Amino acid sequence: MISLKGGVGKTTLSAGLVSSLRLKGGRALAIDLDPQNALQYHLGVEHSVSGFGSSSMAGLNWSERWQCAFNDALLLPYGILSEDERSSLIKDMTEDRHWLARQLDSMNLDENDVVVIDTATGNNLALMQALDVADEVLVVTTADASSFIALDQIDGVLGESDARPAYSRCSYVVNQFDASREFSRDMLQVLKRRLGEQLMAVISLDHTLGEALAYGRNPFSTVEPSPACEDVLNLAKQLKARFEAPPVQGIEG
Ligand SMILES: Nc1ncnc2c1ncn2[C@@H]1O[C@H](COP(=O)(O)OP(=O)(O)OP(=O)(O)O)[C@@H](O)[C@H]1O
Ligand SMILES: [Mg+2]
Repeated sequence: MISLKGGVGKTTLSAGLVSSLRLKGGRALAIDLDPQNALQYHLGVEHSVSGFGSSSMAGLNWSERWQCAFNDALLLPYGILSEDERSSLIKDMTEDRHWLARQLDSMNLDENDVVVIDTATGNNLALMQALDVADEVLVVTTADASSFIALDQIDGVLGESDARPAYSRCSYVVNQFDASREFSRDMLQVLKRRLGEQLMAVISLDHTLGEALAYGRNPFSTVEPSPACEDVLNLAKQLKARFEAPPVQGIEG
C-alpha cells in the first residue's frame, strides 16, 4: 500500500484489507513499515507491544513476533523505537536492498498467506523495500488536484528499472470519494481517463471508519457493512480472484 501524498488512507485501507482478504486455508498478515506505528490502532492490537525493530525482539525470527489483530489477522507492528534502534533499522534497510525480502523468506509463509504491507508516505526506504517484494502494488489516491499531480511522481518511482520485479502488478485505489460533490465526481472521471483499467476500486468517504478508530472498534464487525467497508470487501474480492487465478503462461515472457 503506497502513496507519495499523506493522509490519503493507506493505513486505513491496509487494516481493511487484512481484515477482509483471506485465501482458502491461508492467513491474513499485515506489516507496518511506517514509524508512525498507527496500523496497530486500526487493528485492535495492544498499544504497548513491541514491533519488529525493537532490540527486545532481536533474537526472534519474524514468524515469532506476530500480534493477534481484528478478524483473526496477524500484525507485525513497527513499534516505538529508541534512536539507536531506529538508526540500526535504517542502516539495515539502506545496506541491504532485499532486507524485507530476506525477513519474509525467513517466515516460512504459505502460498495461501496474504501479507499486506503499509508503508510510510513518500519515496523512502520503506517504499523501496515494499516494492521489492510486492506482487500487487496498490497506489492510494484521492479525487482531488493535489493527488492527481502526485501521480506523475509515483509513475516515475514505479517506472525506475530496478524498483520492482517485472511480474508485479500495479493498481490504483481512489479513497475518500464523496459522490455528493460534483467536483469529486468530475475528478473521478479525470482519474478514470488517466488510469484506465489500473483503477481497481473507489472507496467511499465514510466517517464511520474514523469513528471506529477513535473508539477502538472493528469497523468490519457490524452485521451491515458501512459504505466504505462494503467497498473494501469488493476490493478484497477482486484481489482474491487475482491471487487465486492460475498464472497465465507465456504473457510475461
Ligand atoms: N474512506 C474514508 N472515509 C473517511 N475517512 C477516511 C477514509 N479513509 C481514511 N479516512 C481517514 O483519513 C485519515 C487519514 O487516513 P490514514 O491514516 O489511513 O491515511 P495514510 O495515507 O495512512 O496517512 P499517513 O500519510 O499519515 O500514513 C484518517 O483520519 C482516516 O480515518
Ligand atoms: Mg499511514
